[in-house]
Amino acid sequence: MNLRIAPSILSADFTNLGAEVKAAEAGGADMIHIDVMDGHFVPNLTMGPSMVKALRRISELPLDVHLMVTDPSRYLDTFIDVGAGMLSVHVEVASPLSGIIDHIKRQGVKAGVVMNPDTPPTSISEVAADIDFAVIMTVNPGFGGQKFITGSESKISMMRRLLDAAGNSAPVEVDGGVNCLNASRLVEAGAEILVAGAAIFGASDPTAAIQALRRAAQNGLEAGTT
Ligand code: DX5
Ligand code: ZN
Repeated sequence: MNLRIAPSILSADFTNLGAEVKAAEAGGADMIHIDVMDGHFVPNLTMGPSMVKALRRISELPLDVHLMVTDPSRYLDTFIDVGAGMLSVHVEVASPLSGIIDHIKRQGVKAGVVMNPDTPPTSISEVAADIDFAVIMTVNPGFGGQKFITGSESKISMMRRLLDAAGNSAPVEVDGGVNCLNASRLVEAGAEILVAGAAIFGASDPTAAIQALRRAAQNGLEAGTT
């Protein structure tokens, strides 16, 4: 188990983005989560490849690009070319799923599959043995700062079991409403990568907020091993 914290810049101060990312690095962020929304798959528009390119220049951390777009296959190479280190597509729209996963991996980028709150873990069965990470949405995608959907812990455990059954030790990433109050439960359920936007960039001190989140998550690690 390799616990990782992925600050989502969706809640960062865009007028001060470089400094915000540096503050996240200082707090021990393991990667930077970048939410790409197309106003079609989700009811919001956010950032695109130029943002990934800009962040690639100022940070050494892996860039975890979450594609919330209706036709992800059109944009894979665009995001790979500008420096995505991890690229995830939604199972609800990614077609052909195994071809997409294969394409991402062949470019040397980590391939992930994301599922919405109403999508069952079994929807990814076809690629369970092949993916580099599985992302469970614990809010309906589209906006930062939403409330964690209670009961999502069981879905995290199901996904962990499904990957294990496929012989895949790939991590489960959790995205949406993660904070210091629920982090330990999520890790105990099997989450290894915690995405957090509002809990980090909404805090007065993002560096301290990451450290606090990691401490909280570590309690779940201990509970999980006892
Ligand atoms: C939501 C995004 C999330 C979001 C998480 O659609 O995928 O990555 O930024 O933000 P918080 O942690 O504020 O829920
Ligand atoms: Zn996201």
